[in-house]
Amino acid sequence: MAKIIAGVGSSHVPAIGAALDNGKTEEPYWKRVFSGFDKSKEWMAKIKPDVAIVVYNDHASAFSVDVIPTFALGCAAQFPPSDEGWGPRPVPVVKGHPALAAHIAQSVILDEFDLTIVNKMEVDHGLTVPLNLLFGQPKDEWPCPVIPLAVNVVMYPPPTGHRCYMLGKAIRKAVESYPEDLNVVIFGTGGLSHQISGPRAGLINSKWDTAFLDNLSKDPKKLTRIPHVEYMREAGAEGIEMMLWLIMRGALDDRVVEIYRFYIVPASNTAVGHIILENRLHSAKRWRKRNGLPKGQRPMPVKKRRAAAALRPVLRRGAR
Ligand code: DHB
Ligand code: FE
Repeated sequence: MAKIIAGVGSSHVPAIGAALDNGKTEEPYWKRVFSGFDKSKEWMAKIKPDVAIVVYNDHASAFSVDVIPTFALGCAAQFPPSDEGWGPRPVPVVKGHPALAAHIAQSVILDEFDLTIVNKMEVDHGLTVPLNLLFGQPKDEWPCPVIPLAVNVVMYPPPTGHRCYMLGKAIRKAVESYPEDLNVVIFGTGGLSHQISGPRAGLINSKWDTAFLDNLSKDPKKLTRIPHVEYMREAGAEGIEMMLWLIMRGALDDRVVEIYRFYIVPASNTAVGHIILENRLHSAKRWRKRNGLPKGQRPMPVKKRRAAAALRPVLRRGAR
């Protein structure tokens, strides 16, 4: 059985892609951004997913204003990087997983989520930048197949946050009914707060972003009640991209383990946010493997583990 083992949230700022492509990662401005993803790359190399589902928004690259699907699932064998005005990014062509994508399309559509099936599509910075941030800069190919899910947030009306969250649940059900043993990681990309045009250009709201990340981790249902207008008012016009993270979150357990978080202001015009959430069962399995413990043993809750670790030096001193 395939299963979703973890979720990754990440901003997808196009200038991050340009910094990578033009060898600027060591410049102080960019180093402070990229260093926030060092641990994430280590984590990703360790969990080695078999497939990544990447929820992102197309920025009028694959779809013009002529046709704007609400949810577009990439079912093709490959997805070339799109030309966003400076030529296609020098990154590997994204290889898909047509069999799992077709299975997800069938399961989710029969569950009454009317996805658009896309058999030919180019992918823009919304998808390729987060791949770089988590997988680095491979020359020839990405380490695993990727299923793109492009969601409309560029033209009103986008889907509601609740719809996004419920779609995440339907995707999880679809993945879990796929017979092959595959470990799947799901990404939500975009955000955090940013507005790139108009009188409020440059708007960033760190307080709101932090509350969003806190709730994403602990109380995602609360986020499903946020209306579009609140995202736009509090997090800027383009802050609406944050809603895509709810699809990722919906595909995870109700209670998850927050493995890592990073937040920095700004990169380009945007507050960069990043989070890694693991499903508990998978976390427990990795913990047992690391400590050579038998099947069935459960880790202490993270808070208790931290408290125990903090006490250890005190206990050691006491023993001397
Ligand atoms: C910027 C951020 C985005 O998410 C995007 O799609 C385009 C631009 C920016 O910060 O400049
Ligand atoms: Fe964007």
